[in-house]
Amino acid sequence: MKILWQMEVQTDPAWFSLMQAAADCALWREGIREHCAVNVRLCDDAAIQAVNREQRSLDRATDVLSFPIIRYPQGKTAGSCGRLLRTAYDDEAEACMLGDIIISVDHVLQQAAEYGHSPTREAAYLLTHGLCHLMGYDHIEEADQRRMRAMEERILSDIGCSRDGGQTVSDEALLALARAARERSYSPYSGFAVGAALLCADGRVYQGCNIENASFGLTNCAERTAVFKAVSEGEMDFVAIAIASEKTAPWPCGACRQVLNEFAPNLRVLVTWDGQVDEAPLQTLLPHGFGPKELTDGQE
Ligand code: THU
Repeated sequence: MKILWQMEVQTDPAWFSLMQAAADCALWREGIREHCAVNVRLCDDAAIQAVNREQRSLDRATDVLSFPIIRYPQGKTAGSCGRLLRTAYDDEAEACMLGDIIISVDHVLQQAAEYGHSPTREAAYLLTHGLCHLMGYDHIEEADQRRMRAMEERILSDIGCSRDGGQTVSDEALLALARAARERSYSPYSGFAVGAALLCADGRVYQGCNIENASFGLTNCAERTAVFKAVSEGEMDFVAIAIASEKTAPWPCGACRQVLNEFAPNLRVLVTWDGQVDEAPLQTLLPHGFGPKELTDGQE
């Protein structure tokens, strides 16, 4: 999912990667095959109150507002409305525009404190809620509300934020996040797009794609993009990485094996291509690896 951000308030950068993962999982869970985009505006209470007043005649601030572009037929959601989605194709975004979501950062911080979880998780929850609305879910009737809540919970557990606090990121979700990250690959020189999704011990997922360069040699692989994003956000405890490409198994290159070994010699490595999946422990991909332990062992 392409998120077109409009940031009016300074927020923790960690919000964006989790919100991106939630958006990618929303499309995957809904079974949407089209490239989609959404406008996400992060503002303060005063700004969301003004929108609420102008658009809904409700003169009060709220946590999230969503404005869908598509009107789905009664009882249907986006996953079964591919043709309808394509009518909302936007040339500039190069994707089907689902609509606008407005989130109050004041409410994110306040509600996170109330519920006793992180603002990052609350921001991802509010985005997920808004995205479900843009995909045709609502919570007016009880049965619809149950369906919407179940969808929200699936998406949140995919990104390691389930309500029960469990680390429930499944292999399927991790593989879907790697495939979604692949869509953001910058690979104009090789045309070989790769995506990665790195699962941390605390359930968080960092996505990465390969980023090429006109100088060729400065290319960064998808796996290292994900690792560098995670480490620069303070995460170093990794349990699995999923890597996605199109036609051949994207086993990590030697440089990436070495970088992964630095942090997680016992990492599970999953690869997916052309509908197939394979897995190997990093130890078998990098036998007799050289890592931090080798530097310290024997120094006593
Ligand atoms: N590539 C990756 O992103 N990961 C790998 O493990 C192998 C190769 C990228 C780098 C380059 O942009 C393209 O694939 C072709 O080598």
